[in-house]
Amino acid sequence: MQNTQPIGIFDSGVGGLTVASAIHRLLPQESFIYFGDTRHAPYGDKSKSTILDYSRRISKFLVESNCKAIVIACNSASATAYTELREDWPQIPILNVVDPVVREVARLKARKVGLIATRATVRSELYPKSLQQFDAQALMVQKATPLLAPLVEEGFAGTKVSRGALEHYLQDPSLEDLSHLILGCTHYPLLQKEIEDYFHQKVQVLNSADLVAIALQKMLEQKALLNTHGLPASMQFYVSEKTDAFRDTAKLFFGQEIDLQERLLPA
Ligand code: DGL
Repeated sequence: MQNTQPIGIFDSGVGGLTVASAIHRLLPQESFIYFGDTRHAPYGDKSKSTILDYSRRISKFLVESNCKAIVIACNSASATAYTELREDWPQIPILNVVDPVVREVARLKARKVGLIATRATVRSELYPKSLQQFDAQALMVQKATPLLAPLVEEGFAGTKVSRGALEHYLQDPSLEDLSHLILGCTHYPLLQKEIEDYFHQKVQVLNSADLVAIALQKMLEQKALLNTHGLPASMQFYVSEKTDAFRDTAKLFFGQEIDLQERLLPA
């Protein structure tokens, strides 16, 4: 394995771009290959076996594209497929988006933590179980918010549609009196400002993007895989179906037109 090889990053669609852009900001010398499975988004309402199947096939594509590490930039896939992917590819370092956030919540000594996420992530109970291991004192309440990822995927963040959906979900009494709220879906940072406004900035909202980028840096350092050559990095974007929303969101994050390639998931 060479440290100049790219990092593979995947999600069901645009959500993982929040993670990819944080990685690019922190580690601009690293090349990456991004895969957004737009043909099958959203993942959050699919069964464990379906999400696992898609995750395995995307990982195969990334490994065959010579990636030195994989970032599962999707909570639903992290909660469903992380263990299996590590078994499938023991030689490749694989990072999920859940662990770095849970560690941060424990470090912050949060009192009452809310988690909003897809049904798949909530159903897995991964966040409350992991938090228990780090900080048995913190109380965690979970709320599935299945409309939010499709809404972001379709480019409706920052509109009255997103505000209406957020109000509907966030007024749930279980989310009263939070000290922290985890955005447990990588699509949700695109709604972060609206969410903070809803809580009148009184709840500390945590998104995984920067925390995952830092965790990736550490992981690559430990494995001597950090690119120290300072070569110009390349960014490659693949989707299983081209969408205008993906192109627009990628442009928003990377400040330039991107070369978007369509690729079906391997068998
Ligand atoms: N962005 C993904 C997540 O973090 C998937 C959302 C979806 O496709 O439902 O869960």
